Amino acid sequence: MTEAPARGAVLPATRLLLFGATGDLAQRMLLPSLFSLHAEGLVAPELKIIGTARSPLDDAGFRQVAADSLDKFLAPDARKPDSIASFLDRLSYVPLDASQPENFTALTGPVGADRDMPIAIYLSTAPSLFGSTIEGLRRAGLDGPNVRIGLEKPLGHDLASSAVINDAVAAAYPEQRTFRIDHYLGKETVQNLLALRFANRLFEPLWNAEGIEHVQITVSETVGLEGRVSYYDGVGALRDMLQNHMLQLLALVAMEPPATFGPAAVRDEKVKVLRSLRPIDRATAASHSVTGQYAEGAVAGQAVPGYIDELGRASDTETFVAVKAHVDNWRWHGVPFYLRTGKRLPNRHSEIYIQFREVPHSIFGGRGGVLQSNKLVIRLQPEESIRLLVMVKEPGLGREGITLREVPLDLSLTSAFAGFRRRIAYERLLLDLIEGDPTLFVRRDEVEAQWEWIDAIRDGWKAANVTPRPYAAGTWGPSAAIALTERDGVHWHD
Ligand code: BG6
Repeated sequence: MTEAPARGAVLPATRLLLFGATGDLAQRMLLPSLFSLHAEGLVAPELKIIGTARSPLDDAGFRQVAADSLDKFLAPDARKPDSIASFLDRLSYVPLDASQPENFTALTGPVGADRDMPIAIYLSTAPSLFGSTIEGLRRAGLDGPNVRIGLEKPLGHDLASSAVINDAVAAAYPEQRTFRIDHYLGKETVQNLLALRFANRLFEPLWNAEGIEHVQITVSETVGLEGRVSYYDGVGALRDMLQNHMLQLLALVAMEPPATFGPAAVRDEKVKVLRSLRPIDRATAASHSVTGQYAEGAVAGQAVPGYIDELGRASDTETFVAVKAHVDNWRWHGVPFYLRTGKRLPNRHSEIYIQFREVPHSIFGGRGGVLQSNKLVIRLQPEESIRLLVMVKEPGLGREGITLREVPLDLSLTSAFAGFRRRIAYERLLLDLIEGDPTLFVRRDEVEAQWEWIDAIRDGWKAANVTPRPYAAGTWGPSAAIALTERDGVHWHD
């Protein structure tokens, strides 16, 4: 893959064209993120934000939508009332039916006639509209050499459909100017994973099959369908979460050290991992994966209905998935990566759990308690922390010799950086799109390697007749998910 230009080599955008500007993501995340970038002076004063969507609004109407969403969704520490008016001044709006490419000339006025101007486009619309949107952008001349395009997921529902979308995009925008968004890469602790691994001498010598016994990655959510019926049903946890966010986390944990923190080096290393994933296919789907669907239960003391009741019809969409994966290369030979994610689980947390191997020989014999192997727990959310569990001696004068205890070496990022505002992942990603740095965006070969692995699992499910097992809302998925690790003598870290 060709090296993409690094930050600084391209000019920051002076126009940001936001498709889906009145949608849920725009209101919850994108507009509040853009506001923060504005309020902190991180974007140039000349940057204009042009929203577009189907709603028949004018500039004032869109500014009102934006003002309301800031009011509703800005975190208290991000509120800067003095900056609101100047932010809203940046906004304008063009009502547009993205399925009608011939109408896109309406964008010409607000964008301006200068076609050499650096422009960032953000598509936060249904992927079914990507084809006509790109055609419309071409007709409006918005496909010049200084235009870059950001694409929100889902980019297709399998390898073939993602290739159709990627081909349509590639016809107008080369890979170096295509920014595929995986918002997990914008999260601070996800980037911190790179700092932890590659800015410290401590871990790397042990970061392999000799030092590590297994890895767990959990992304658990307490929410259910949240009114996203039309998107979620038929998609399910494997494609909604595992295909993108969780495989990206796995790739960051497992990759070789890149030579630089640059877009080509980082993504070259990630794609090697993704391509080394051992296929889970017809032969292993039933033994290496578990799917579930939540039934009624209680989350945080509140009774909640089952998925089918929320949906109002029968469905075999999985709301939980757990897999046992392997990265087939020298570094990770024989090290299982257990991944699980689900909706309506007991709590909301995302974490990476690294279990190191036992010491080769215990000098304490059977005395002093059980010697536990070290664990590194990297919490991404809700709070950000890194915790290393180590064995120490319990204070005391016991005649039996020393008594050992496992205690945490805690790095709470929330308290270490108490004065820092916690940012929305989209602030980082929007800023990088505006400035043209693709390091934290997903390259086409990564997406395709991800889909290839996921498609094989789905084929395997079909062939082996794997259907989701019910689990009560508020529990850790079906009991088979527990058995998936227990068979190997491993307990999920809850
Ligand atoms: C999205 C999924 O990509 O990520 C959602 O479509 C999920 O189903 C969300 O809820 C989780 O993101 P976060 O940042 O809340 O962990």
